This record gives sequence, structure tokens and C-alpha cells, in this order.
Amino acid sequence: MPLSLSHTQRFAWLSALLAEWQPLWRPLPFQHRGSPWGEAYSALEAALLELSDAEVARLQDAPFSASPLADWLPVAALAELVELPELTGEAGELPAAWAAHVGGRKWSQIEAFLPRVAASPDERLVEWCAGKGHLARALSRRGAAEVTALEWQATLCRDGQRLADRQGAAVRMAEQDVLAPEAGRWLSPETHVAALHACGDLHARLIELCAAQGSAVTLAPCCYQRTAAAHYRPLSQGGRERAAALGLSLSREELAMAVQETVTAPRHVRRRREQAGAWRLGFDLLQREVRGVDAYLPVPSLAYGQLPARFEAFCRWAAEQKGLVLPAGVDWAAFEAVGERRRAEVTRRELVRHLFRRPLEVWLVLDRALRLEEAGFDVELGTFCARELTPRNLLLRASRG
Ligand SMILES: C[S@@+](CC[C@H](N)C(=O)[O-])C[C@H]1O[C@@H](n2cnc3c(N)ncnc32)[C@H](O)[C@@H]1O
Repeated sequence: MPLSLSHTQRFAWLSALLAEWQPLWRPLPFQHRGSPWGEAYSALEAALLELSDAEVARLQDAPFSASPLADWLPVAALAELVELPELTGEAGELPAAWAAHVGGRKWSQIEAFLPRVAASPDERLVEWCAGKGHLARALSRRGAAEVTALEWQATLCRDGQRLADRQGAAVRMAEQDVLAPEAGRWLSPETHVAALHACGDLHARLIELCAAQGSAVTLAPCCYQRTAAAHYRPLSQGGRERAAALGLSLSREELAMAVQETVTAPRHVRRRREQAGAWRLGFDLLQREVRGVDAYLPVPSLAYGQLPARFEAFCRWAAEQKGLVLPAGVDWAAFEAVGERRRAEVTRRELVRHLFRRPLEVWLVLDRALRLEEAGFDVELGTFCARELTPRNLLLRASRG
């Protein structure tokens, strides 16, 4: 049963928990040689390290269910606070032909999103950051009026317009930088903006423009860390006051934590990722020894497929990136083995951050909801699809009553 809390109450409670537990969720376990939480949490640390691989995998997938961390962390409260209703929409399958030129997963997301865009027949529809306007084409088929799709890349606009024309869909692709000062001209009290997975500043701008122009909006936000500001400034007045009072400040890197949960990758990709993680941790110990400095050293990331075939080659690459000269006679096998062992430990310690990911994401979306409520909107917040389809499944629906 989801809690019947107002958005303000839910936000207040989540703010308090996030602030109280920041010493546990802020540290990045891979940067620490041992426990990142010190003596105070040695029992938590011991319990984590005892977890079997199967238990770790289960908790990664379902961090709130039957969690052994509940003896130390506010698991039950967090679980309740992130439980949101699925927003209703007019059910019904869309004709398969509408899916032409849209990738399978993206189409399934559009199928889930579309019925939840509760625009009234007299509202003009606008898609925000539309790409090739796949959502706009689907929206246009629901009603008679033309849908405007805003996108700043000329090639996407051209391709999208061609697709719409060929399919006889009433869509106008409009080349528009939504961050430009004149972007507000597309919005009015008669418009309803739909935005599926619009990133940080792009959806923050949408919310500000809706508040200013009185446009209704249906938004699934994404990538909160894609923002020009290095530190998060809550959008709502209430959020700014509460965050300041609690000392809750978030860097861009910390915002990224809210969207780190991804749909499970195929087994071979996962194995490769685990290997890369273990090698990084093995190299970390090696560089501490070579430098004589017991501190983490960030190494650039490598695109998938560029990881060298062997541990030694990886270390030589990493050392070169950091301008380090490796001595002769390194016991590669020993460092590789220690890296593998550390990876198992880090994965277990990561379960603590994992518990706070969804709460942080919900907190960020609630801040957006409060901004619109402060501007006189009625706001609904819930989910629009199962997490397996996309973990970014939160939906905000708002209109000025
Ligand atoms: C994450 S995609 C979302 C696309 C589409 N809504 C979807 O769900 O597939 C973001 C889109 O926003 C566009 N975009 C990025 N910055 C923009 C800006 N300042 N103004 C307009 N569009 C922008 C990108 O070109 C891209 O097509």
C-alpha cells in the first residue's frame, strides 16, 4: 500500500533521511582501501562482507526486500517512501504499424508513456527535445490537431519531418534550442508538453517555462547530473530551504547516483565490467605502492571493447595515463588476485549506496513536483512502466487547475 503522504510531506521525510545518512551513502567504496565508514559501522561492514554472491545479486535487484542491512539502515522507511502509484492512463494496445522506425525498447516506453499523456482535446501538444519525434508521431495519431516537436539538431528535425510526412502524421518538427531565451514562445495555457527522458537542464527549463506560461506537462525526467551548475540548486523554494536547513548539498557526481541503476546487461558485458572493476582495484593498490602514497588516483574510463586483453597491459596503459613509471619485477598475478578480492568487497559495500539511489531519484522528482505546486499546478507523481522496461520510470503530470 503506497503511503498517503502529500508531496511536501514525502519530500520532508526523504530530505531528513538523506541528510541523516549522508556519511554512509556519500563515500565511494572503490576509492577506499578498507571500510569507507570507519569503526562506527564495523558490524555493518562485517555483515556485508559475509554476504554470498547470490545474496548480493538479489539485493542489487531488490534492495528493499528482506534486507540484512535493516539492522543498521532505515530500509523500511526508505522502501515506503519510494513506493509510488502507477499513474493511470487509457489502456489499449497501439497498432503495430505505429512502431515503424522506432527501436523495440524505445517503442515499448512510448507505448507505456502515451496513454498517460492526459491532454484534453482543446490542448495543443508539444514534444520537448523530440529527437526524430517518435513520440510526437504517436501522439498525433490520437487526435486531429498537429503536434509540434522541438529539437535542436537540424538533421534529426529533417529526418523526423520526412518520417512524419511519409506516414501522413500531423507533426511539425521545429528546430529549437530549448535553452534559448525565445523557447517559451511555444508554450501557453493552451498547450500540453510531453517530454520522455529529457535530461537535467532541459527538463528543468521546461518546468520553469510551464510555471511561467501555464502550460500543462507530462514529463519523465532523466539524467539529473546533466546540468551546467556544479552543485544542485533545488528548483522549488521549499526544496532550497529544506536542503539549506539540513546541510544537504549535492555535487553533479552525486546527482549521477540517482540514475546509476541500469537495466541488467547481458552476461558477457557484465563479466567484462566486473573484470575491468577488479583490474582497476588491482592497479589502485599497485599505484599506491609505486607512489608511496596511500590514496586513490582516478584513472580515465575506457569505452566498452577497449579494455586490454590482460591485466599487465591494463596497468601499463593506466600508468601511462597518470605519468607513472612502473618498476621491473611487479608480481602481476598477486596484484590481479588482490584486485579480484577487493572487487568482491567493494560490490558488497556498494549495496549501501544502492539503497539510497531510488530515494535520491524520488527526492529530485519531488523537488520538481513542489516547484510546480508552488506555481499553482495540480501535480501527480507516479510511475508509467515497470522498472524492467526502463529504470527511469517516474512520471510527473501537472496542469494549472
Ligand atoms: C535523451 S534524448 C530524448 C529523445 C526522445 N525524447 C526520446 O525519448 O528518445 C534528448 C534529445 O534532446 C535533444 N537536445 C539536447 N539538447 C537540446 C537543446 N538544448 N534543445 C533542444 N533539443 C535538445 C537531443 O538532440 C536529443 O535528441
